[in-house]
Amino acid sequence: MRLFDPASQPDAIEQAAQRLVDGGLLALPTETVYGLGARADDDAAVARIFAAKGRPSDHPLIVHVPHTEAALGFATAFPPAAQRLVAAFWPGPLTVIVPRAPAMATAAAGGHDTIGLRCPDHPVALALLRACAQRGVLGVAAPSANRFGRISPTLSAHVVEEFQGQGEGLDEVWVLEGGACDVGIESTIVDCSREQPVLLRPGRLTLAEIEAVVGGPVAWSRPEAPDPAAPKASGTLLSHYAPRAKLRLMPDEQIEAGLQVLEPELLAAALREPAKAPKIAVYSRSLWARRPPSKGVVHRSMPGDAPTAAHDLFADLRELDAMGVELIWVETPPEDPAWDGVRDRLSRAAAA
Ligand code: TXA
Ligand code: MG
Repeated sequence: MRLFDPASQPDAIEQAAQRLVDGGLLALPTETVYGLGARADDDAAVARIFAAKGRPSDHPLIVHVPHTEAALGFATAFPPAAQRLVAAFWPGPLTVIVPRAPAMATAAAGGHDTIGLRCPDHPVALALLRACAQRGVLGVAAPSANRFGRISPTLSAHVVEEFQGQGEGLDEVWVLEGGACDVGIESTIVDCSREQPVLLRPGRLTLAEIEAVVGGPVAWSRPEAPDPAAPKASGTLLSHYAPRAKLRLMPDEQIEAGLQVLEPELLAAALREPAKAPKIAVYSRSLWARRPPSKGVVHRSMPGDAPTAAHDLFADLRELDAMGVELIWVETPPEDPAWDGVRDRLSRAAAA
């Protein structure tokens, strides 16, 4: 693996862009999560993404563009809803699905006749995409830079963790440093290729914000009530974004009641044979403010506001995984729509 850091290497962006232009794999920072990029117009380069991730090749990837003009080239049409959304939220954490131009990014689109497009709001990503465009590459296909079914990386160290020494060819992934991802969960995806726009994945942008810009109702295809016409793409699989530990969502009171029962047992197990004691974690917004941390239970606080909770979520779950936690009890997030993205990721992780 090679790490490029624009903060210390003046030619990092140029080298990273050349890596992509040459058909190589490069993990790049975005404001949502790190992506595993390859030039979108090169089916062989895109095939390397599917191989590195271990992802089925009919699952479509998002194509990242430096500006709206570049996006237009990948589409046969930009329906009015897509135009409004892009004008309002690009660059930003929004992916639009539009009808794909014939023969454009076929492998990246997983053979579908639609394509997901996004212009990320991250200075390093934008500089990289512009440098690629200057070399004639107008789109970079990039799913989240994790192995299939795992948590998305929000730090370059997470990307290294996912690929370094993990199998043949995986060290071929080069990484462009961009710091911690601001949003922390993947982009909001709106399918604008059909009669009525459909929210396929909530993110920082909420359904209400999307509807306000579209100027009409937007359907929401949820894992528990999927839109039958929506493609079976990996981000829409129920059991996605999972840590290794089993994750269970429950109200705070239930966690507290569970702790009362478990604490003595866990403590006894830890005293008997510390190495073999089960590792359980509690990830709650308010419990640890009301109650002293339990002995024998790993405690983590979930931030009380949705943007910070989203920012921290995947890094916290990774940290608990790294500690060898087997079970994570997570306090159910608030019903407020601002929490839709976090709730969506946690429900999927709990379903795994
Ligand atoms: O924030 C993000 O979107 C990140 C960063 C790297 O940009 N990317 C990301 O990619 O999350 P990925 O591959 O993990 O999720 C992309 C999802 C697919 O799983 C699928 O659900 C949807 O985007 N998607 C892409 N193209 C599509 C299409 N043509 N039709 C329907 N869904 C599509
Ligand atoms: Mg993903």
